[in-house]
Amino acid sequence: MSETMEPLLKVTGLQKHFPIRKGLLQRQTGAVKAVDGLDFEVYPGETLGVVGESGCGKSTMGRLITRLLEPTGGKIEFQGTDISHLGVSGMRPLRRDVQMIFQDPYGSLNPRHTVGSIVSAPFKLQGVEPEGGVKKEVQRLLGLVGLNPEHYNRYPHEFSGGQRQRIGIARALALKPKLVVADEPVSALDVSIQAQVVNLLDDLQEELGLTYVFIAHDLSVVRHVSDRIAVMYLGKIVELADRKSLYESPMHPYTRALMSAVPIPDPRRKGVKGERILLKGDVPSPIAPPSGCRFHTRCWKATEVCKTQEPPLLELRPGQRVACHHPEDAEGVTIPSARESVEVTITKSPESPKAPEAPEPVEAPEPEAPASAEATESTEQADAPKSGEPAEATESPEAPEGAESVSKPAAKDDAAGE
Ligand SMILES: Nc1ncnc2c1ncn2[C@@H]1O[C@H](COP(=O)(O)OP(=O)(O)OP(=O)(O)O)[C@@H](O)[C@H]1O
Ligand code: SF4
Ligand SMILES: [Mg+2]
Repeated sequence: MSETMEPLLKVTGLQKHFPIRKGLLQRQTGAVKAVDGLDFEVYPGETLGVVGESGCGKSTMGRLITRLLEPTGGKIEFQGTDISHLGVSGMRPLRRDVQMIFQDPYGSLNPRHTVGSIVSAPFKLQGVEPEGGVKKEVQRLLGLVGLNPEHYNRYPHEFSGGQRQRIGIARALALKPKLVVADEPVSALDVSIQAQVVNLLDDLQEELGLTYVFIAHDLSVVRHVSDRIAVMYLGKIVELADRKSLYESPMHPYTRALMSAVPIPDPRRKGVKGERILLKGDVPSPIAPPSGCRFHTRCWKATEVCKTQEPPLLELRPGQRVACHHPEDAEGVTIPSARESVEVTITKSPESPKAPEAPEPVEAPEPEAPASAEATESTEQADAPKSGEPAEATESPEAPEGAESVSKPAAKDDAAGE
């Protein structure tokens, strides 16, 4: 992967605002700003990990770039073609190239269909006749994802969670896609099988030359699979960097907080007291996100400028883009001119997140605007999946949960090992 090559996917200013309607006349009274201005690229053959707390817009972003949702604003280019507002027929050829693996292997497979008909559905939808026939190809795909090809006539309930996710993967790969968006593909699975499914995705990427956008709740899950990682907060990317830079010197306070919750897999470093940053409160409501920097209500470094001026996402180190007025470990970093108009305070963190001697846990202040799950529940489910979506795919939007995910250890890291 090289940033000098043409991106497979380029996203510019991407937005999705779900309208909130009330009353008899269903007047729009507001909007859930689930995705509110994303800029990123995905290069051929790479895995872009996307992390962030529950409700920050990861799934919405995944459904926008696979065009299961219509964007409110911005641009999505796939292989140089603008696909932002393509209709069903315009998207048909593209459905072969862009596929999605869903979080819930139980809800995303139709229980009344056999595995054979689930995995062969993409061929039927696209009118494709593979060499040797559909059945032979489906059995080959089942073998490819580690399932018994003889189980062609079985139903989803006869499989375990991990096996069901393999069925979902086989379906996603049926048409030899170029880009696969995997939305939390292992978070509904038992810890013991998470690593198996992640390794399978890894092997398939190498074998089939796939490009992944891999969505996860926390950084430990994407650690082993991602080349670059985008950290999202309340509908925006706050940091985007290659894996090494992000893990070794995160620059955004939110990334640092997420990082502090990642378990240390190296046994030699076990027992070393690690820095813990406990984020208090929930992610604020995306209906009325905080002014200025959206993270200011929970950020321990926030100053006046953070409350009024939104920090742009700028490349502060080669390959490391950060949206923060007071980035971490930024000594010696030249701040681009766009940043010079605002007051900048460069602070070096007391210890890097991986440093052995850690400061006392940092507690962020209470958020000013706690998330309102009720408010989002009352919103109109305006954008049902478009007809190009696989017939079995049923996924409902999830309401925001608490912010505890930052301190929740993710088991995959341990399971996968270093
Ligand atoms: N169809 C919809 N209508 C209204 N609001 C929605 C819809 N889909 C998502 N939302 C809201 O948009 C916000 C982002 O949701 P999204 O599912 O993208 O978050 P997420 O980061 O994937 O969360 P999780 O980690 O829980 O899966 C949430 O506040 C959610 O309630
Ligand atoms: S801009 Fe300010 S509030 Fe936002 S992350 Fe940076 S220091 Fe914290
Ligand atoms: Mg999600």
